[in-house]
Amino acid sequence: MDRKISLTGIKPTGNLHIGNYFGAIKPALELSKTYDARYFIADYHALNSMKEPAGLHASIREVAAGWLAGGLDPERVIFYRQSSIPEVFELTTMIMAFTAKGLMNRAHAYKASVAENNEKGDDPDAGINMGLFTYPVLMAADIILFDSDVVPVGKDQVQHIEMAQDIAQAVNANYKQQVLKVPQAVTSEDTAVVPGLDGRKMSKSYGNTVPLFAPENQLHKCIMRIVTNSQGVEAPKDPDSSQIFLLYRLFASQEEQAALAARYRAGGMGWGEAKEELFRVVNRELGPIRERFNAIISDPEGLDRILAAGAEKARPIAAGVVKRFRKAAGID
Ligand code: TRP
Repeated sequence: MDRKISLTGIKPTGNLHIGNYFGAIKPALELSKTYDARYFIADYHALNSMKEPAGLHASIREVAAGWLAGGLDPERVIFYRQSSIPEVFELTTMIMAFTAKGLMNRAHAYKASVAENNEKGDDPDAGINMGLFTYPVLMAADIILFDSDVVPVGKDQVQHIEMAQDIAQAVNANYKQQVLKVPQAVTSEDTAVVPGLDGRKMSKSYGNTVPLFAPENQLHKCIMRIVTNSQGVEAPKDPDSSQIFLLYRLFASQEEQAALAARYRAGGMGWGEAKEELFRVVNRELGPIRERFNAIISDPEGLDRILAAGAEKARPIAAGVVKRFRKAAGID
């Protein structure tokens, strides 16, 4: 079995929406067909920003259940929680010794926080904890710990993978051998940008999302809220500039897309009807996922068992890499 290794971390913050489904869950599960996949819930990364225990606890379970409901097969993918793998923190400490502070100063998220403070005339360090500052080191440890070849991530995370490369290379250069594998980022160019309810990219920070597991009536309400122009029922409409249609394309077959596009162009179909058509195909795909999600989330012990079994498979792999590094470093 020498398939290449794909690994990604999922930060459990907030409710999953259909942008996450098409942008992260589907592409990562697609990769798990051809790679040896290890996917984990990055709960210690979430701790940086989520200090409210009930919220963090619920988020961890919801996001884990969401990935399982979305099709992650824990028999084929090693699926675990970062917090269950103590070797992550051992490796984090080890690679700290090879991580230039200047490298961390250049991290986008940290720089953005400093810039925000400066703009407000605050102390540059205001509200910045060491978890945020060293975030890329913990993430590098997550990746390197499993000899990962590829890391599927969104474009906003590419800098972090480059930092993981820098760190692994610094270690290898120091010991003049390949102690740590140097990972590559994979970003899917063809992942459609999922439009949100207001036409901008769907994102939690814009508050324009369609939740993945909303009950049917809420899903319907959400879709009815999509902002449209004021064209009347009779007016011919351009499918390609309608975000209702752009969303429809993600859920409908080729034939359905062609048929609806023709109705747009012919006129006689109002926005309300277009939204009903969209609701029908969204609900068709999300209905079964929602049912699986509800079943998983209502059996918390079962969910914990799945994650614990994943951690059991992950730990020996992690221990092997730490051992290799300790030996190279002269600690063992
Ligand atoms: N930082 C990533 C995010 O915010 C989550 C993450 C943590 C991650 N560790 C990782 C992603 C390791 C890939 C590999 O989305």
